[in-house]
Amino acid sequence: MIIAVDGPTASGKGTIAKALAKHYRLPHLDTGLLYRAVGRQVFLDGGDPDNAGDALTACTFPDGLLLDPELRTEDTGGLASRVSVHRSVREALFERQRSFALQPGGAVLDGRDVGTVIAPEAQVKLFVVASVEARALRRWKEMQERGNGRTLAEIENDLRLRDERDLNRAEAPLRAADDAVMLDTSELNRDEAIAAAIDLVERKLALQ
Ligand code: DC
Repeated sequence: MIIAVDGPTASGKGTIAKALAKHYRLPHLDTGLLYRAVGRQVFLDGGDPDNAGDALTACTFPDGLLLDPELRTEDTGGLASRVSVHRSVREALFERQRSFALQPGGAVLDGRDVGTVIAPEAQVKLFVVASVEARALRRWKEMQERGNGRTLAEIENDLRLRDERDLNRAEAPLRAADDAVMLDTSELNRDEAIAAAIDLVERKLALQ
């Protein structure tokens, strides 16, 4: 069974994908982490994330980079969004994601284009959304806990910019697959969102 979980930044898709993987005992891949690693590698190389050649070179990042805590920062998220517009970068990362999805026994993958490009044959596709206000508030709370003093307005502004780039790029823009089930987490806490996701997966499986 392949479960695809797509959606915008801070929608809750990562939390939901991890919980589904645990619940169904499936391996999980956060595909955004690959783009984050490319973004981080461009930075370490002193390259330009908007330059397709520099971004493609960075796709040869060492595996150890995936464990770098810097990958989780907002700055790296911004770099990831910029390198992800290049078709060559998406192609370079395709096989790794595709073979993860096709491993025997199945997998859970979360990202932007899992249900549309990476694994269009996925049995279950969730498209997780939340209002920009709800997402900004979540990020702000996370950052407060880590002692980062960015304002809510700054975070909301960054989210809007990232949404715009991810939605409007020519290559594999963020969009729900025709057969995806929508899950709006704006009004849900973590446990409620996970419960709602499991419920949707169960309903989908019952129909198959
Ligand atoms: O999900 P995330 O915030 O870690 O993703 C970071 C960026 O990577 C996101 O802004 C767009 C890009 N990305 C993508 O283009 N395709 C994916 N499947 C996952 C992430």
